[in-house]
Amino acid sequence: MSNIKACIFDLDGVIVDTAVYHYKAWKRLANELGFDFTEEDNEKLKGVSRVRSLQLILQWGGVTKTEAEQEELATTKNDWYVEMISHMTPAEILPGAKEFLLACRAAEIKTALGSASKNSMTILDKINLTPLFDTIVDGNMVSKPKPDPEVFLKGAELLNVAASDCVVFEDAIAGVEAAINGRMKVVGIGSPQVLINADLVVNGLNEMTLEKLKNL
Ligand code: BG6
Ligand code: MG
Repeated sequence: MSNIKACIFDLDGVIVDTAVYHYKAWKRLANELGFDFTEEDNEKLKGVSRVRSLQLILQWGGVTKTEAEQEELATTKNDWYVEMISHMTPAEILPGAKEFLLACRAAEIKTALGSASKNSMTILDKINLTPLFDTIVDGNMVSKPKPDPEVFLKGAELLNVAASDCVVFEDAIAGVEAAINGRMKVVGIGSPQVLINADLVVNGLNEMTLEKLKNL
């Protein structure tokens, strides 16, 4: 039995499924550059920062761009993405996410967001979940991308909880590794064949309970 004092949640793929919007925006960009971008390619970008995602896409398309051009392309993609997420509603919260956040708070377990996305605040406000997080760490507050543990360690620090008393919820391999690198426990959201290093893997937060949390 462990004494979990805080849960730190990734956003995209854990609380909300924004992968489809990222996919549409990256695909439009790739198509405008003259090549295609598949859903399979998109899978490889889960948890990967905006700049790194663009670099990978350009590499897959065999296209070379200067740093200034890359910055412009990333901004264009983000403008399209921001337009899409501006229409999001609470109906897009993944099953069980809100319920599990509420259960944590009722049990006096602190909650934090630990996301690479610089659009985290916009999304949380759109789906009305901002008040359920005791602290929010997003892509604007960290300099080292996952699998570096910076985003989760910052969350633990702001909550004033030791890393060993935190559990991270993650859908991306890089995120699971980040939690492990931060010496935190980690629950994978997705497939046990993919998230092999997680302490426990569930399909979604609808399968998560306080009992399972205590038994980690
Ligand atoms: C992660 C997503 O949460 O955030 C990635 O899984 C995304 O796909 C990254 O690239 C950065 O997001 P944003 O919103 O800052 O471009
Ligand atoms: Mg994610």
